[in-house]
Amino acid sequence: MAREGNVVNLVENFKTSIVMPTAQSFPAKTVPVMESDAVATSKRPIIRIDGVTKTYRNGTNALEKIDLDINAGEFVSLVGPSGCGKSTLLRLIAGLGTASAGEIDWPTSTYDAKGHPMPDLGFVFQEPTLMPWRTVFDNVYLPLKLGGVKRKDAHDRVTEALEMTGLARFAAAYPRQLSGGMKMRVSIARALVKRPKILLMDEPFAALDEITRTKLNNDLLHLWEQQGWTVVFVTHSIYESVYLSSRIVVMTGRPGRLSDDIEIDAAYPRNEAFRTSSDYGEYCTRVSAALHSASAAGDGEH
Ligand SMILES: Nc1ncnc2c1ncn2[C@@H]1O[C@H](COP(=O)(O)OP(=O)(O)OP(=O)(O)O)[C@@H](O)[C@H]1O
Ligand SMILES: [Mg+2]
Repeated sequence: MAREGNVVNLVENFKTSIVMPTAQSFPAKTVPVMESDAVATSKRPIIRIDGVTKTYRNGTNALEKIDLDINAGEFVSLVGPSGCGKSTLLRLIAGLGTASAGEIDWPTSTYDAKGHPMPDLGFVFQEPTLMPWRTVFDNVYLPLKLGGVKRKDAHDRVTEALEMTGLARFAAAYPRQLSGGMKMRVSIARALVKRPKILLMDEPFAALDEITRTKLNNDLLHLWEQQGWTVVFVTHSIYESVYLSSRIVVMTGRPGRLSDDIEIDAAYPRNEAFRTSSDYGEYCTRVSAALHSASAAGDGEH
């Protein structure tokens, strides 16, 4: 029984952790049904966060009047002190929870007949949260399965996601046979299997060693450039944020407000030469200073 209970808990946790944003989770808007625009790489907002405030039921004021446009094709990192509302903001963007005030708008998204936006989102959580009794293939297949796609019809998509993340050879492996970095890749593959245009990533590489993290950073940048994604990435690492991002948004201590918006004007593809350049060092110093003064603002963590 105890084992059964654990399995049930795992399934429930898993479903929560991979929950794909649904149209129902977004507030309805009185807009006509529109065709989706292809995501272009021009400076065109595809997520408009307008005056978003979030106060939890217990009174915690997590976010205060966030105004932020995310443009198509950007790689935006959110940095800020622990507890400043980064995960809260990411979840609100994904439609996992509702804002207490303000709204999140999707200028280029498709809307359903009821006026709910249906953005192409993939969410990568900090913990890989894989189902231990399912193979890599079946873990990646799960979002499609939950969407009613039969296993045989999902084969090409799952294979594509596994190939993108360098896991094709491990399709039949079980999570216990994988390293931490490989589990994280499975988690990313699972977010990619629905071919999203926008990736929301909440400290995906925080638990990894430096070498694996660097490798996954490079792989992610490569895919981002190749696929034309828009990425919103949460990290505590200044170095990682500067290496990856076209733009870094710095948030104050709780309640999270926007404090700085720093463009990282360095060419892609980025590589070790960038990591060792004076530009990189200067950007890191600048983001670090911004983070220090932002951390001094706000009420503190808890
Ligand atoms: N479901 C919830 N109910 C009540 N308070 C919450 C809930 N989720 C988060 N909080 C609170 O809201 C604030 C922001 O939390 P959040 O997880 O968004 O911060 P964060 O910036 O992601 O922190 P970290 O960097 O440590 O991951 C914190 O004070 C947290 O305790
Ligand atoms: Mg967080």
